[in-house]
Amino acid sequence: MGGARPKAVVSDKDNLWLAKFNSDKDRWNNAIVEHAMLNLAQECGLNVAQSKIKRVGGKDVLLVKRFDREHTKDGYLRHRMFSALTALRTDDSPTSRSNWSYITLVEELRRFSTTPHEDARQLFMRMVFNALISNTDDHPRNHAFIAHTANDWRLSPAYDLTPTPMTSIEHRESAMVCGNRGRWANAKNMRSECRRFMLEPTEAESIIKTMAEFIEKGWYKTVRRVGVSERDCEAIKSAFVYQGFFME
Ligand SMILES: Nc1ncnc2c1ncn2[C@@H]1O[C@H](COP(=O)(O)OP(=O)(O)OP(=O)(O)O)[C@@H](O)[C@H]1O
Ligand SMILES: [Mg+2]
Repeated sequence: MGGARPKAVVSDKDNLWLAKFNSDKDRWNNAIVEHAMLNLAQECGLNVAQSKIKRVGGKDVLLVKRFDREHTKDGYLRHRMFSALTALRTDDSPTSRSNWSYITLVEELRRFSTTPHEDARQLFMRMVFNALISNTDDHPRNHAFIAHTANDWRLSPAYDLTPTPMTSIEHRESAMVCGNRGRWANAKNMRSECRRFMLEPTEAESIIKTMAEFIEKGWYKTVRRVGVSERDCEAIKSAFVYQGFFME
């Protein structure tokens, strides 16, 4: 399946799931924290991959339902999928990083998506959500497009959402360009190119404000509800709505 973390594909009666394992080197229980972030994203209105936690051999494993396979009586159907790297016609070498951009991505998406307004709005919300949980690993392989029938290309559900608590309280950067101030994970920067997402500035502002308030007030309740320990909450708390997000 690719990606940096150890994983496997497992099946139950009806579905294929991506199993993501904790590593002894992790600073917190990654499986449960990622599951919590997917829950939090859904509560913020994002379309996300379905997930659950299963204990295996005394350890927590995150199971993420594969959205690129569909179970039928004849076996699994494979849906076509490509990553944002392809949409951006780039790769993941360090020299190509300058091509990694939400702004270019939304322009491309508007060309081929069958639901451009909805997908552009989802991409905007995802960019804002990632900034609000300090997910700085939002690189183009962590966004995908998927088609179920002949030509219904759409933005895939969100996946691989992880917080990265950092020391800087003023400046955090997304992996992709978010606005006219580059990668700065900041509200004003994200609003600056909102029309490319087909959003009026007032709409963009309202999405940002509502999501920031919800996460600030609600992240703790959500993560505790799905089983994140008090100790892990302490370790990740500085990731949420960091001070520089609202800096003008
Ligand atoms: N629910 C899903 N359905 C189908 N494909 C998926 C799903 N989740 C992830 N993938 C694919 O598997 C790849 C690896 O998954 P994921 O990004 O969760 O792993 P990771 O090891 O945390 O990655 P990274 O290297 O970004 O940290 C993704 O880039 C994507 O192509
Ligand atoms: Mg990934």
